[in-house]
Amino acid sequence: MTTSRPSGRQFPTDFLWGSATASYQIEGAFDEDGRGPSIWDTFSRTPGKVLDGDTGDVAADHYHRVPEDVAIMQDLGLAAYRFSIAWPRVQPTGSGEFNQAGLDFYVDLADRLIAAGIKPVATLYHWDLPQALEDEGGWANRQTALQFEKYARKLAEVLGDRIHLWTTLNEPWCSSFLGYASGVHAPGVTDDATALAAVHHLNLGHGLAGRAIKDVLGQDTPISVTLNLHVTRAATDAPEDVEAKRRIDTIANEVFLGPMLDGEYPKEVFADTEHITDWSFVLEGDLDLIQVPLALLGINYYSTGRVQQGTPAGGDGTPGPDGHRSSENSPWVGATNVEFLPQPGPHTAMGWNIEPQGLVDLLLEIHDRYPGIPMAITENGAAFYDEVSADGRVHDAGRVAYLHDHIDAVGEAIERGADVRGYFVWSLMDNFEWSYGYDRRFGVVRVDYDTLERTVKDSGLWYRELLRTNTIPT
Ligand code: NOJ
Repeated sequence: MTTSRPSGRQFPTDFLWGSATASYQIEGAFDEDGRGPSIWDTFSRTPGKVLDGDTGDVAADHYHRVPEDVAIMQDLGLAAYRFSIAWPRVQPTGSGEFNQAGLDFYVDLADRLIAAGIKPVATLYHWDLPQALEDEGGWANRQTALQFEKYARKLAEVLGDRIHLWTTLNEPWCSSFLGYASGVHAPGVTDDATALAAVHHLNLGHGLAGRAIKDVLGQDTPISVTLNLHVTRAATDAPEDVEAKRRIDTIANEVFLGPMLDGEYPKEVFADTEHITDWSFVLEGDLDLIQVPLALLGINYYSTGRVQQGTPAGGDGTPGPDGHRSSENSPWVGATNVEFLPQPGPHTAMGWNIEPQGLVDLLLEIHDRYPGIPMAITENGAAFYDEVSADGRVHDAGRVAYLHDHIDAVGEAIERGADVRGYFVWSLMDNFEWSYGYDRRFGVVRVDYDTLERTVKDSGLWYRELLRTNTIPT
């Protein structure tokens, strides 16, 4: 393992160490016990959308292996487990009848976690929208946000105080811009105005869902949201490059941070997108609803980006951060005259550059802006092309080094004043990596997709040692 940072850093005693997954990526059982179809079932069955035509039909078969998977978590010493609830499993069409078997599945999962001493951290939406809602316009339709509120209310009633921390949305940037602008994620729409309407209705859904949970369980119930805040740097100090960075910050970060934490959209976004939409989908009172008090801001961090003024991103073969595979269409809606530059290595199997310093910078910046809001890293990790050695083990030194350096970066940010309460490695186990299917493995536990057998990788053993000692191992 090659690291760029020292070992031995200690973490606060109550620091929340965990791992993360998402329903469609691990559960499988796509048509069992009353689950309805989601946009990812449809998208993954559409030829050419997912590498090798992979689907989440079986995935890691977690739906049938909860006891085994919770035992692995316990063996790793996790203090918390971040999972998502599949909306179409608990409410097959996204409105109307709930599905008791689906609700029971998550109650059982939460109960088993608690019995194992692991705190359940539940995300309400990690991209598997019921297809029936998409048929009515999906997140571009305000009704979806209103249905999301009802769904959240039901889960609060059913799961109650089992959940340690509620997260409304995971990476709404991906849901809106990869789903409705570049179209590399489900539902595969490529329309900029639709994407911006989706942004607003995701923001609204966040506020409504957070309020519904507090309504049911009490105002002190901890609510969070997970954002993939983009760390983008200007290639030079030239004003046009600084402006290029500003445009990306606006469309990638500020359209979510603004309404959720400041109570307003950044005025720049209206100017940047005036040729696309007039934002008339923002109704009076919406911004008050969106700004629900947050107990914690979840941040997913993987890599950094670098921009200059130039030809718009998209179609240039350069992979951007967060799963954007270049295509005809760009997810950077309104960011005209912005060009993403290739980042120097090293890179992971996603083609993303490895830069732990970006995480330090991000945590310090967000802490400066929102000093009263604690943060947690709700995802961080790396895909590498793992090999199973003759000894049957996975010696994933690259992933160990990645985790080592990023966890040290979190430690440095804490030392420099950032209020970071937890870290969740992405991912507990190998899983369905969206448009890359099963080709890219992020797990600290290997899944053999033929036998569905789990094997803890060296990175998992290393993480277990970290959790045991609360100190970064060598
Ligand atoms: C962020 C997403 O939340 C997760 O679903 C995905 O697998 C990882 N990034 C890696 O791309």
